[in-house]
Amino acid sequence: MRVTLIFVLFAVSAAAAQVQPMPLPRKMVVGSGALAIDSTFAAASHDCADPRMGAALRRLHARVARQTGLPVVGGKTTLTVACRTVGATYPALGEDESYRLDVSAEGARLTAETGVGALRGLETFTQLIVPGPRGFQIANIHIEDQPRFPWRGLMMDVSRHWMPVGVVERNLEAMAAVKMNVFHWHLSDDQGFRVESKRYPKLQQLGSDGNFYTQDEVRHVVAHAAELGIRVIPEFDMPGHTTAWFAGYPELASALGPYAIERTWGIFKPTMDPSREETYTFLDGLLGEMTALFPDPCFHIGGDEVDDTQWKQSESVQAFAKQHGIANSHELQAYFNRRLQALLKKYGKTIVGWDEVLDGNTASPLDSSTIIQSWRGPASLAEAARHGYRGLLSSGFYLDHLKPASFHYAVDPLSAEPGAKPLDDQEAARILGGEACMWSEYVSPETVDSRIWPRAAAVAERLWSGREVRDVASMYTRLTAVSRVLDTLGVQHRANYAPMLDRLAGDRPADPLRVLADAVEALGIEGRRDTRKYTSMAPLNRLVDAARPESESVYRLEMDVRKLVSTHSISGESPADLTELRTMLSEWAANESLLAPLADNFLVAEFMPVSRNLSAVGAMGLRALEYLQTGQTAPPDWLNRQTEALGKMAQPSTEVSLAAVRPVKLLLEALAGRRTEGASHK
Ligand code: ACM
Repeated sequence: MRVTLIFVLFAVSAAAAQVQPMPLPRKMVVGSGALAIDSTFAAASHDCADPRMGAALRRLHARVARQTGLPVVGGKTTLTVACRTVGATYPALGEDESYRLDVSAEGARLTAETGVGALRGLETFTQLIVPGPRGFQIANIHIEDQPRFPWRGLMMDVSRHWMPVGVVERNLEAMAAVKMNVFHWHLSDDQGFRVESKRYPKLQQLGSDGNFYTQDEVRHVVAHAAELGIRVIPEFDMPGHTTAWFAGYPELASALGPYAIERTWGIFKPTMDPSREETYTFLDGLLGEMTALFPDPCFHIGGDEVDDTQWKQSESVQAFAKQHGIANSHELQAYFNRRLQALLKKYGKTIVGWDEVLDGNTASPLDSSTIIQSWRGPASLAEAARHGYRGLLSSGFYLDHLKPASFHYAVDPLSAEPGAKPLDDQEAARILGGEACMWSEYVSPETVDSRIWPRAAAVAERLWSGREVRDVASMYTRLTAVSRVLDTLGVQHRANYAPMLDRLAGDRPADPLRVLADAVEALGIEGRRDTRKYTSMAPLNRLVDAARPESESVYRLEMDVRKLVSTHSISGESPADLTELRTMLSEWAANESLLAPLADNFLVAEFMPVSRNLSAVGAMGLRALEYLQTGQTAPPDWLNRQTEALGKMAQPSTEVSLAAVRPVKLLLEALAGRRTEGASHK
């Protein structure tokens, strides 16, 4: 009986092993057999009148061709698509995104309530294509799927570093691939005002270094996003983070200018003057123009990190506050927000704001339609929901911190702060979802994709899949699979790695650099901001910029070591995992002598200490492996010295951390554990 059960589980998991969709569908049953995907592949949507479907199927054919390398010429309808209702072509919040997918050896059928549901199902379909024993195939499968949250966003800051239209377009494709449905476009900040205004042209003329989107480009991006089932929410951050506006229109500020575009990061003093009617006249004109460009009913007013120095120092602002019974700067910002809300209401817009917009909100609160985006923590999100506001979580989803995917994956929009009262059902229903945020202090068009993907896919899964979907190892397996899919879409999260390393190596072969770069992880904003003087003019061309936030190869080694240690197979025969481990440790140990000749290059010289540490870690790992394999006991003082040295080498240097220490630490722990085990038997 026991043997049979194990056999069945093995058979199912072997079939399912190749099925790695991300986000994980709500319900998925993998059968035996498969549908062949070959050059005759074609999809038809006679039963779906959604106007987006023609373009969606053309994209699908191109995708299948790119993913498989097959010349897809069509001829046999392999997939049929049906949807019951034709939704609006611009996607709406809360639209039915459910779909059902049935694949058998005879063909595949995708059914959805709406066109947008069909779009989501097509993404799942392409993720299921794998090379099988006789060709490309999709396993026989039944899927029923729908999202947990209706708002699954990605915010991109295009102000601190300019991101051309192409960057935005390819990231929209990536978002669609993981079923994200809101692109939050952070269009203005101290470092740049990035949209063409015809009414106030000095905004982009003097506030963008010439790097802005024309109105035609904005319309194009919005239309492209809508085709993919993605809403576009513009953010014009006010009343702080507005220095770039004042370069052209200093009269909007609360203190005399002149002003120039900021080149550094932080919270700056220039702040809009909330006391002058002219400010609102200007904003009425600008918002009238901008709301016409963006069809979404939501409009983001920012509202974060307001420095009130200018307000406090301005006699006219203080006199205004007194006259209106405004007690402090929070209330003054609340007054400004309400004025903005009234203007935007006129243009049919609901406002979204960072959680600071609720500070000082009690006397005359914002309209209950307001959506609060929490970046400061789950408490402010819960507070918003308790006050009747809808909310989005971004705290814990900041991609610029370069935390591992597992960190973001563990964050849940509905988990309360420790000790806090959980939300009741009505309050919980106000949490619409969340957004991964890509702030752009330390990214360029060349590196930004690698800071978003694939980690944002873990956030996408958190927001789409059921709350109980929490298996981290499964998530990483599927993250690697989806990363390959994103590659075929033209996302540059992997594509730019090798060219960046080649550039670092100059005229020498980059192989040893690649060994090092694979074994380190780039630090995020917290680890970079105090290490050197960064400005928007600083080149982002160093090891830290090429290195990834999370090392895939080190993660694999960690898994290998855990498996070896837990199965006690390390001192037995030499399995494949052990071979991979020994090969990698040897490569690390030898790398220093290969990299050293490149150290006359200034870009390489700075991280030679990290290179030396990598080789030391490799040598240490080989020695530990030898102890484990031969069953010898490591001398306690050797073990202590290695552990201490490893701890030092784990400290960041030149804005990267040496991920390679992790699997070796596991080996040392296994050795220490064996010593303790031995001792306890005595
Ligand atoms: C923010 O991170 N200041 C919204």
